[in-house]
Amino acid sequence: MDIRLDTGAFAAIEADALITYVFEKDDRIEGVVAEVDRLIGGRLRQLADSGELAGKSLEMTLVHYPTGLASQRLLVVGAGKPEKFGNAELRKLAGAALRALKAKSVKRLAFLAPENDRSAAAAQAITEGLIIADFESDKYKTEDKNNKEVESAVLAGWDDAGRGAAQEGLARALIAAGAQNFTRELVNEPSNRLTPRLLAERAEAMAREVGLTIDVLDEKRMAELKMGALLGVAQGSAEPPRLMVVTYTPPNWREGAPVIGLVGKAITFDTGGISIKPSEGMEKMKYDMAGGATMLGVMKALAQLQPAVKVIAVVPSTENMPGGRAQKPGDVQMAMSGKSIEVINTDAEGRLVLADGLAYARQLGCTHLVDVATLTGAIVVALANVNVGVFGSHQEFTDRLLASARAAGEKMWPMPVDDDYREMIKSTIADIQNVGSGKGGGAVTAAMFLKEFAEDTPWIHLDIAGTAWLDEAKPWAAKGASGVAVRTLVDFVMGFQ
Ligand code: BES
Ligand code: MN
Ligand code: ZN
Repeated sequence: MDIRLDTGAFAAIEADALITYVFEKDDRIEGVVAEVDRLIGGRLRQLADSGELAGKSLEMTLVHYPTGLASQRLLVVGAGKPEKFGNAELRKLAGAALRALKAKSVKRLAFLAPENDRSAAAAQAITEGLIIADFESDKYKTEDKNNKEVESAVLAGWDDAGRGAAQEGLARALIAAGAQNFTRELVNEPSNRLTPRLLAERAEAMAREVGLTIDVLDEKRMAELKMGALLGVAQGSAEPPRLMVVTYTPPNWREGAPVIGLVGKAITFDTGGISIKPSEGMEKMKYDMAGGATMLGVMKALAQLQPAVKVIAVVPSTENMPGGRAQKPGDVQMAMSGKSIEVINTDAEGRLVLADGLAYARQLGCTHLVDVATLTGAIVVALANVNVGVFGSHQEFTDRLLASARAAGEKMWPMPVDDDYREMIKSTIADIQNVGSGKGGGAVTAAMFLKEFAEDTPWIHLDIAGTAWLDEAKPWAAKGASGVAVRTLVDFVMGFQ
């Protein structure tokens, strides 16, 4: 899909469909929509009076062959109540419009932004909404594939004075939403087509394409570094593990300046290991590498956006399999940091690979850490499939991430980090155990475990177990991988100082 800006008269744009929107309120035919209405002979006001065009959230009103417009169709989308409308809603609205029109084989779109939504951030939200909505999860279909393709989208409503802001938002959106879709492609891949070795190859290809440096560690180097927690998880699998280190260095970086470490869990398949999971729903555990894929997507975007801060992504990747060589409940592993871990449950493997990932990121010089992981079923109990769980050791640092989540339109909610929960992961025979004793608080005890390996480095943990996968399609997104947290982290790093 080719997306560009057109600052000419919207009435002259020859698209298959011109999209705009109205709010759910009394005088809904206002501003630029009133102009559209005049051009097409007052039909919108008639529809509004009849009650058909009410402006309810994501209501779709399609007018064919509107006289006075060069476009073949006019789609008026409901924007809901104005007080509940922001860029997050605008992004979804643009996406829902694209998917509704794509289903009707529409190929050339134009999006007419009303006067209140002509900032750089609005242009960015609209463009992101279109790109995210255009993504399909049908790569492996040979029949009934969705062959419908949106060829182009034009952003309209801006004049020459607003051109700069619109171009800036558009350019950022192409990069951020493009990176989000790159992450979604990886997350959708089944585990036979995306082993740790193949994930490392995809990371290498991405790094080469955008000009990032990459180092891929094999088992031998992991052993030299004494990554006993990661190797303990990997030992049950016939597929060898990999640990990817992708680095972005800004042009004038100096020794001593901050370095952000992005650590992502990449279990390409989580059977649970010897503490094996029930078969029902196990196929979904191919998405247990979403945290790692998120970090690779973020790096892809950063390479293009060139922030002023150095960033190192660390992505430990392995399968979690049962077998004659697999680790067993009760085993003790020595983590890279020197801490001993009693593995009570082999299904709590994400925190084990992240323990060594966090320690390695610190060894590489990271001064700030963010990890992303599909870590616990407990976060789904706490927050359902709605919010990402946010844990952090330093309030001010965590607050900045939450602000980025709001800017990116992604729902994230703070969770407690509290030493009372630390008591629950004390082990009888080792320094720490990998699951909490007693009932409840599973997402928090998992976070407390990770914190032991972040040590005193400012650290944020995002649990995306409930949000990385859409079981059902949304009006603005296909089902499958969501790509959650990519845009938030891109915004976070770009604003870091
Ligand atoms: N990958 C799972 C967590 C998960 C659950 C991701 C649901 C996506 C959807 C993780 O490795 C896991 O198995 N966690 C266990 C931990 C438990 C054994 C302490 C869990 O949440 O059940
Ligand atoms: Mn598990
Ligand atoms: Zn897992």
